Amino acid sequence: MRVAIVGATGAVGHELMQVLEKSKLQIDELQLYASPRSAGKTLPFKGKDLTVQATPEGPIDADVILASAGGSISKALAHRWAEGGGVVIDNSSAFRYDEGVPLVVPEVNGEAALKHQGIIANPNCTTAIAVVAVAPIHRKYGVKRMIVSTYQATSGAGQKGMDELLEQTRVQLGGGVAGHKEFAYPIPFNVIPQVDVFLDNAYTKEEMKVVWETHKILGDDSLKVSCTSVRIPTLRTHSEAITLELERPATPDEIRELLSHTPGVEVRDNPAEKLYPMPLTASGKYDVEVGRIRQSLVFDGGIDLFVSGDQLLKGAALNAVQIAEYLQEKGAIKENQRA
Ligand code: A2P
Repeated sequence: MRVAIVGATGAVGHELMQVLEKSKLQIDELQLYASPRSAGKTLPFKGKDLTVQATPEGPIDADVILASAGGSISKALAHRWAEGGGVVIDNSSAFRYDEGVPLVVPEVNGEAALKHQGIIANPNCTTAIAVVAVAPIHRKYGVKRMIVSTYQATSGAGQKGMDELLEQTRVQLGGGVAGHKEFAYPIPFNVIPQVDVFLDNAYTKEEMKVVWETHKILGDDSLKVSCTSVRIPTLRTHSEAITLELERPATPDEIRELLSHTPGVEVRDNPAEKLYPMPLTASGKYDVEVGRIRQSLVFDGGIDLFVSGDQLLKGAALNAVQIAEYLQEKGAIKENQRA
């Protein structure tokens, strides 16, 4: 299989290369693309140095194109890239709500990927992490309402977000006044209840992505979802406190049992041993950690839980590669014959 990464020099691009190294996909060729600024740079892959090229404005000659260079670039160019005959697995929000573009978390709705017409969307990271845990609960107990509060890492804003956290923390520790560029306020020693821009309904776009994308992935618009998204001064891994009202009551033990058999989930839930999900333990892990599973004090038979998932992996790079693996397993990747 011939694979291309657009945005190879970015935070998600870096993770894509790591995940591809370990993936079961048989990769005959890997093409790396970024902005013209990065053309000529080399990046290591499986013991070889591969050269980064400027992103083409026309067809890309590959079977799978993993795109993570941002929404505006994908919006302008992804259809052109797909004219090369490959499938674009797009990490941006450019196509997520388009009819005819599947929005896929393979453990939850992998079969939707098979209906693609050249582009498959990778969900927003916060949503991808939540639905891995919530989808099996929804299937078995019927989620009526879902209330989410997030604790989101700076790498949600890419490599520049992580750089800003580190640099501005140094500034502040040195006695200076931390500045900000990627975030609305200085991020060191702060939490910022704004991720992305505000919309007319006073929610942020990030918060509404959780609503829209949960509906699309679970195929259920009747589910009531509300989210508060908060940026915190960590480098990677998003955490989320989730409250679920259920059609059919469930006990914490039943949920623990269900999630212990759920692909992509690691139940980490033993308060007596101080065992619960955290960025400290979930970073770098493929599975989403789920813990603090307890009976809701608000909704009879409802459930409260806490999840931590490496959003650069399950929320982005890993999920994209898993979509490619799923397509390959199903024999749904056309090998591009034009080379
Ligand atoms: P570059 O490193 O050359 O700027 P992140 O999300 O970590 O900020 O990464 C964004 C990725 O998108 C990087 O690989 C970046 O490349 C790439 N990128 C940014 N602007 C463009 C562009 N105009 N065309 C193609 N790739 C771009």
